[in-house]
Amino acid sequence: MAKGRGDAAAGALKIEWARAHMPVTAALRARFARSKPLKGVGVGMALHLEAKTAVLVLALRDAGARVRVAGCNPLSTDDDVARALVERHGVGAYGHRGEDTREYYAALDAVLDGKPKVVVDDGADLISILHTKRTDDLGRVVGANEETTTGIVRLRAMEKAGALKIPVIDVNNARMKHMFDNRYGTGQSVFDGIFAATNLLIAGKSVVVAGYGWCGRGIAMRADGLGARVTVVEVDPVKAVEAVMDGYEVKPMKDAVKEADFLITATGVKDVLRGEHLRGIKDGCVLANAGHFNVEVAPEMLRARAVRVSKARAAVDRYTLRDGRAVYLISDGRLVNLAAGQGHPVEIMDMSFAVQYLCAVRLWRERGALPPGVHPVPDAADEEVARAKLGALGVEVDRLTPDQERYIRSWQEGT
Ligand code: NAI
Repeated sequence: MAKGRGDAAAGALKIEWARAHMPVTAALRARFARSKPLKGVGVGMALHLEAKTAVLVLALRDAGARVRVAGCNPLSTDDDVARALVERHGVGAYGHRGEDTREYYAALDAVLDGKPKVVVDDGADLISILHTKRTDDLGRVVGANEETTTGIVRLRAMEKAGALKIPVIDVNNARMKHMFDNRYGTGQSVFDGIFAATNLLIAGKSVVVAGYGWCGRGIAMRADGLGARVTVVEVDPVKAVEAVMDGYEVKPMKDAVKEADFLITATGVKDVLRGEHLRGIKDGCVLANAGHFNVEVAPEMLRARAVRVSKARAAVDRYTLRDGRAVYLISDGRLVNLAAGQGHPVEIMDMSFAVQYLCAVRLWRERGALPPGVHPVPDAADEEVARAKLGALGVEVDRLTPDQERYIRSWQEGT
């Protein structure tokens, strides 16, 4: 467990602050704390191990679950929070910030040693291990939730190959998740990470955003708001048209990098910046990745082309190229908002984790009913979370009248 690292008192304060700003999760928690739908059920989690996740962990425990949790990224664990979970709440929390690959997988194994029946994953590493190295443990698992786009891409590939043996709920695809978490959450927190790592100004600079999906849209929107000149790099022609209509320049990477003061990747695909792009890249360009794995701007690719690698700031490495130009990589290309910043804003994770919470309870309640495969979050869950959020905001909305309901259901009535 995460004993010995971090400061439990500081971690407890962080958890308390997050909990106080997560009204949607709190409302569900109050309900499930009474009904205990997960009484005695083992829940194994691999999520970014920080304060908002701790609130979900404790909410699941209040619903009766026995929870073990590990980080889903070696650089995103908050040691204070992990220690507070262990010492103050008696939760099995595994891993520490900066762990190496062996330690990372040992932490995931420790979670699976707890014999979970429900899995909550972010990036699909736990699910992948259950299907490869720990198949004996798979039969016990009734299902899993997956939090992020990259995990879903992996799971869809498994499903297509006939290899996915459990039902997985695609939490990422809930509207109350990706429309807010990926867009507004990543949009804000990527800059939180870049500011903390570099202390540099964005206004008047050229910011290149690779990938104009949910995350990329949010990053571009916030860069624009900070006064940057925004260029988008895309491979999907529809998204590229959208970026043009939203007012951004769209260019191929080889041209975009020539002017780039910042390059931020958010594609979920490897080798987005390649050796050939370094030939034209602007001297001093700051490279940051928001995608799930550190493959979009691979540090090995930069190392292979650099004559020197040196520390520029605590979380920034300088790669000096043969002709003397340098590029700067934040947090080894790991997701910048978590590795260099504080992750998504609390209110954003409140909504994402409320969806996680509802889906974990559903997996257990409906165990055996869902076949293996990737399943959507039901609309009712999205609506429940949205209504709770509106309630917390004090915002009222209209409802269709019965006559309007009839009108949209009928095909005869046109006028
Ligand atoms: P998305 O599927 O909505 O968007 C990805 C976009 O990248 C697509 O428009 C695609 O056409 C484009 N793309 C793919 N390859 C490209 C290439 N070589 N060059 C340029 N564009 C390319 O995915 P979403 O939800 O935006 O997620 C992106 C990544 O961010 C995933 O790895 C996801 O897991 C991760 N993520 C990270 C978060 C964070 O906190 N940092 C939060 C949510 C998601």
